[in-house]
Amino acid sequence: MKVLLVGNGGREHAMAWRLRRSASVTRVICPNGNPGIAREAETPRVELPSVEHWADYAIKMGVDLVAVGPEAPLADGLADACKARGVPVFGPCRAGARLEASKAFAKEIMAAAGIPTAHTGVFDDYDRARDFARGLGLPIVVKADGLAAGKGVAICETAEQLDQALHENLRAGRFGDASRTVVIEEFLVGEEASILAVTDGQEVFPLVPAQDHKRVFDDDRGPNTGGMGAYAPAPVVSDEVMGAALGEVLRPAVRELANRGIVYRGVLYAGLMLTNDGLRVLEFNCRFGDPETQVVLPLMEGDLGELMLACCEGRLRAMVAPSSPAAAGAPTVAVRPDHAVCVVLASGGYPDAYETGKPIHGLDAEEPDSVVFHAGTTAGPDGTVLTAGGRVLGLTAWGPTLEAAHARAYRLADRISFDKCHFRRDIAARAFGRRRPA
Ligand code: AMP
Ligand code: GLY
Repeated sequence: MKVLLVGNGGREHAMAWRLRRSASVTRVICPNGNPGIAREAETPRVELPSVEHWADYAIKMGVDLVAVGPEAPLADGLADACKARGVPVFGPCRAGARLEASKAFAKEIMAAAGIPTAHTGVFDDYDRARDFARGLGLPIVVKADGLAAGKGVAICETAEQLDQALHENLRAGRFGDASRTVVIEEFLVGEEASILAVTDGQEVFPLVPAQDHKRVFDDDRGPNTGGMGAYAPAPVVSDEVMGAALGEVLRPAVRELANRGIVYRGVLYAGLMLTNDGLRVLEFNCRFGDPETQVVLPLMEGDLGELMLACCEGRLRAMVAPSSPAAAGAPTVAVRPDHAVCVVLASGGYPDAYETGKPIHGLDAEEPDSVVFHAGTTAGPDGTVLTAGGRVLGLTAWGPTLEAAHARAYRLADRISFDKCHFRRDIAARAFGRRRPA
């Protein structure tokens, strides 16, 4: 089949890479894809300014499937536009994508379905928001309702920070329409995990659980980023936790949406906090995680194209792998019994202002069982590759042990560089720590 891939970052490179290794997939077309994606897919330069243009382009190219990477086109209704033209699309419709595009809506679904999450209030009035927040006590979390490019969450440790966060959102409109409403949450303590699942609106198949590293510096210091690295499987997600994630979070969410007439098809990503009192949902995303995808897909077996199409066509049940003891006998997508680690190389200054256009050296470095995923890169003169974003590369390696995968990824990190490149040295450290005897 011919697949149109939407998006242009590290996640989409991983999707293209996995699709190219799927027997059912003959062509992958990723308009304006970066030089890494160009190794796996056709990357025509074409201007597609709206979801309607994308859907028309899918028709023009005669594709059999549209696979969507980022959340914005889903929130804008790309899946609806494709469906209206009869093109199968992997990714939820606009109404389903609200699970990510509106934190208030996500909380409404969680409350209705009894999904465990932080104690929460939703407000558009400053004084009522402040009264509620003060009642909960410090620290406290203030989140812009809408999409805010990963910057909409403020963890407030003082009353001044709380007032500032409420002011920025509700009065100064820091994120425009996205911050007309805020979600205020109790501060949760625990370890985070990302569980990505694919669903056809009925069946839910969890993929291998991963852990992201959101802070920019080692030991979880510095501001939040889109993610500085990931590894999978994350041992903090025991079979018991996976069972709870499936039974108490993922399935109830899909069922609750279905009860409201929303057939949710694509990836459902639950960002979890594993607290001493059990798991709590921090957020839902309506797409593959970035950089989690860069470790989850290399561990996945089978045909990603077929799996996506089965989701679109509501026949995921037929793709069920033999029941695993994990997740209380739930069907899972087949995975290799390997471990994967992804180390993100970022531009100096990221997640704040950074320079681009730096030549990248060492991209021909070779390491077995590894792949260099391109996130923010662009083609320079004479076959060179230049930096073009905050997160530039995702160096993914895998192996029979976490140690082997980790060593390979960091061997790549030591050989690939660009001016002012920085990366975290402690990706997967939590997993190693977990194994040390107490
Ligand atoms: P979100 O976009 O909602 O996942 O939030 C981004 C990050 O902020 C999360 O990955 C957590 O590290 C942190 N965070 C969000 N909500 C909470 C909470 N209720 N308690 C503690 N940390 C949180
Ligand atoms: N890595 C976090 C996210 O994709 O939202």
